Amino acid sequence: MKFAQRMTAYADNGMDALFAANDPELIAFAGGYPDATLFPAALLGQALTASTTPAALQYSTPQGSPALRTQLAHRLTQDGLPTTADQVLLTQGAQQALDLVARLLIDPGDGLVVEGPTYIGALSAFDTYQPTYYEVPVAHDGMDLTALRQVLRQHPVKLIYTVPDFQNPTGTVMSLAKRRALVALATQYDCVILEDAPYRALRYRGVQLPTLASLDTTGHVIHVSSFSKILAPNLRLGWLTAAPALLTPLIALKGGADLESSRVVTDAVAAYLAHHDLDAHIATLRQVYAAKMARLQSGLTPRLPAGATLSAPDGGFFLWLTCPGLDMARFVKEVLGPQYHVAIVPGNTLSPHGHFQDAARLSFTGNTLAQIDEGARRLGQALQQQVATAAHNAYNHG
Ligand SMILES: Cc1ncc(COP(=O)(O)O)c(C=O)c1O
Repeated sequence: MKFAQRMTAYADNGMDALFAANDPELIAFAGGYPDATLFPAALLGQALTASTTPAALQYSTPQGSPALRTQLAHRLTQDGLPTTADQVLLTQGAQQALDLVARLLIDPGDGLVVEGPTYIGALSAFDTYQPTYYEVPVAHDGMDLTALRQVLRQHPVKLIYTVPDFQNPTGTVMSLAKRRALVALATQYDCVILEDAPYRALRYRGVQLPTLASLDTTGHVIHVSSFSKILAPNLRLGWLTAAPALLTPLIALKGGADLESSRVVTDAVAAYLAHHDLDAHIATLRQVYAAKMARLQSGLTPRLPAGATLSAPDGGFFLWLTCPGLDMARFVKEVLGPQYHVAIVPGNTLSPHGHFQDAARLSFTGNTLAQIDEGARRLGQALQQQVATAAHNAYNHG
């Protein structure tokens, strides 16, 4: 059997095994899982039952449920991005939006800028279209624009992918000055920005900044978000909004991909939004997740070996751990998983070029406080042990 050439990008990075680990003792800080105990399951169940009508069970339109698009347009407008229902496309999670945008813009070899490190699922979606990746480092205040300018001067770039709010995996927020400058650069070099914002509403402190899309006056930004982190991921429901020149072909591609997102599900979510206060629900999530993040930081920080660092983001799902000199992928696979029963995501998998070998992403949202305490204890112990062993070996061989 001969697969298509694009399948050569699908090297096994070991992540499937990590996420699927069947270990009853495992404490998983790996997947970006929301807290399932907070899903409004009963209310969504009622909404699903009420939305299971003959009209909703029939084929409809690729753009998706008008009721939900109207609700989303209202929410986007409230967030500073004036939007109408006809400017919104519903997708199977944000993930499908990433796929459709790459499908629209990327031929094999085309220039695609990603943040280094970046969201692993974005790389999976983009790999299919065989881009030439340019990896621009993420600073404490978002993408390094000096590095980006250099890339744009030297190479043709069609698409810039960024997670400006509580970036996956570093948790950083792009500053307002950088947001403005990034939009200006995209306009100057006529490339599209894919703004992926599923964590935007999950701010635990500080002041919200405007979306890139709201700063864009030339139609270069596609704004993507999702219900996965603020309601429930297996609704598989995301959305995008873009200028008509981009939106119209994206709607056509959505039709080609899967005809449309489930009308029953999308109508049910519209009904949920109409009858319940999503913002109150999000306020609860913010409170619970902020406490979990603080717990992981306070549990792990005092146990870190000298030189290691742990990020302190203002929101989102992730902490970023660096441990200079440590081969994180090997440590995770050979030590942390099998001996300490803890899963984290090694940094090299979050970079198209395998950088960040001494770093890892930790997700805390899906765990109980007791699991966080125990996981922090085990992870700290494993890191200390590892560093002590490395020092011992270096001494013996030196
Ligand atoms: C940055 C980012 N984008 C997109 C997604 C995919 O989200 P969805 O479940 O909406 O497809 C995730 C999920 O973790 C994510 O972290």
